[in-house]
Amino acid sequence: MMRLAGISILVCGFWGSAIAGAAPYPPPVVARHAMVVTAEREATRVGIAVLREGGNAVDAAVAVGYALAVTDPCCGNLGGGGFMIYRPARGRARFLDFREVAPQAATPDLYLNAKGQLIPGLSLYSWKAIGVPGTVAGLERARRLWGTWSRARLLAPAIRLARHGYVLTPGDVRFFEDDARRLARDPHAVRIFFSHGRPLQAGMRLRQPTLANTLERIARGGVRAFYDGPIARAIVEASHRHGGILTLADFRDYRPVVTRPLRCRYRGVEIITAPPPGGGATLCEMLNILRGYPLGRDGFHSALSVHFITEAMRFAYADRNTFLGDPDFVDMPLRRLLSRAYARAIRRRIAPHRATPSSALHPGVFASPEGHDTTQYSIVDRFGNAVSVTYTLNTFFGTGFMAPHTGFFLNNEMDDFTTAPDHPNAYGLVQGVVNAIAPGKRPLSSMTPTIATRGGHLFLVTGSPGGSTITTTVLQVILNLVNYHLGAAAAVDAPRFHMQWEPDLIYYEPGAFSGHTMTLLRHWGYHFRAGSPWGSRDWGDAETVFVPSKGRLEGVNDIRNPAGLAEGD
Ligand code: GLY
Repeated sequence: MMRLAGISILVCGFWGSAIAGAAPYPPPVVARHAMVVTAEREATRVGIAVLREGGNAVDAAVAVGYALAVTDPCCGNLGGGGFMIYRPARGRARFLDFREVAPQAATPDLYLNAKGQLIPGLSLYSWKAIGVPGTVAGLERARRLWGTWSRARLLAPAIRLARHGYVLTPGDVRFFEDDARRLARDPHAVRIFFSHGRPLQAGMRLRQPTLANTLERIARGGVRAFYDGPIARAIVEASHRHGGILTLADFRDYRPVVTRPLRCRYRGVEIITAPPPGGGATLCEMLNILRGYPLGRDGFHSALSVHFITEAMRFAYADRNTFLGDPDFVDMPLRRLLSRAYARAIRRRIAPHRATPSSALHPGVFASPEGHDTTQYSIVDRFGNAVSVTYTLNTFFGTGFMAPHTGFFLNNEMDDFTTAPDHPNAYGLVQGVVNAIAPGKRPLSSMTPTIATRGGHLFLVTGSPGGSTITTTVLQVILNLVNYHLGAAAAVDAPRFHMQWEPDLIYYEPGAFSGHTMTLLRHWGYHFRAGSPWGSRDWGDAETVFVPSKGRLEGVNDIRNPAGLAEGD
């Protein structure tokens, strides 16, 4: 064992050294009572102010959800949807599903031409790509069920940020530059995010008066203002003008779902996570498979550890893409997929030193190099209540379209459905008929907001954006803490890798493996590709709270996201 930059790492003789955990990551923010970690600093400050003024974790989560819609426009949203896991200090944990749903006019062949071929871009960057948004209904449901503050009070900080603006940092503007061409296609977006023909730069003030008006409407009128009033009308009219299929009835009929979270155990830790259509079943399947391997002994990112983790990812993603969908529409063999017997059967199929060809599992095709993202925030309050939220527009800025007089982007979540047989979605996921489009159905998601406890005490609040890599990111945060004892910062910041069944590749971040480890894994039959499945260097920022012991909260703003902030009290 040696210590490098404050992080313990194992150097494992034959299987290759674990150099990847050794970078000098910024230390976590430590606090005693409360913690808020989000992808954007202004939103974090909104959340911690709510907690300091006596609000609870759900109050803070609602205020942060609205604040991120202003200060993190790529991913925070009013025009998308998401999931919340709420674990009160006392009482039962709950799962709030405010995922978008397919409009009533949606059909399985919505994106196909007369020959049955996918029309490129239609499920991503057209008005037909928009699912009925769930965020406002979801945040309002959370507030009414578990919050203590009024709607107006929780929306006030977001309205202020939108009306008076805030000064952009380099971290804030990186997505404006990256997506400038797409944003330039929408005149409403151009008015907000461009100045003199160029995307806004760091140091400029971003004011969003139209969005402020929308937020004020929601503050006054609540869910009805959004779903049965001028906001829904503006979206439906714009959709109609541009060939979309949204109707006022779609908005009026939208309902979030409150249900039990999914639970599984891994090495003394109880995982509380998102059931389908979320990613928790895949997370639990991977953990079930991995409980049979001594990863801690094999070492962090040693060849043997990477082999077993990759195989767990491969089998679990093959099952995800074949069997999982919206539980209101499909019967899923969840009991079987999450049983110990099934995990044992998979372990028997995993050879000690050989990659399993993906083609040996279920049929599938190779992926396209496209895709993007979502945002995560994690909150713990002084009472011990914890909230994990992942919500999304799907790709950055969603469709890139705004309805007039609304000031917010609309999602392109419909692409998360199986849009054509054997065709990969934006994240390269090749999904099955159980995830086919149907009116009112929720598309399958990788979002995996997760809370973990140990010995009955809060242990971890985490989650991530990152499309198909979301679930493997959450997996690695857990493995890094539980098996490798990396500590909070390295558990979140250490380079990651990802496998999703198809294509048969290990994607990886720079520094994830030593050369020796990669040589050995190639010898065992693995193939590698640097970067994410959508061909980018961006991986999800797992904004996380770790609770190593009672009275100690460690907040980690993922090093991948310079705009984010952890702040404690
Ligand atoms: N839109 C990405 C996901 O929900 O998985």
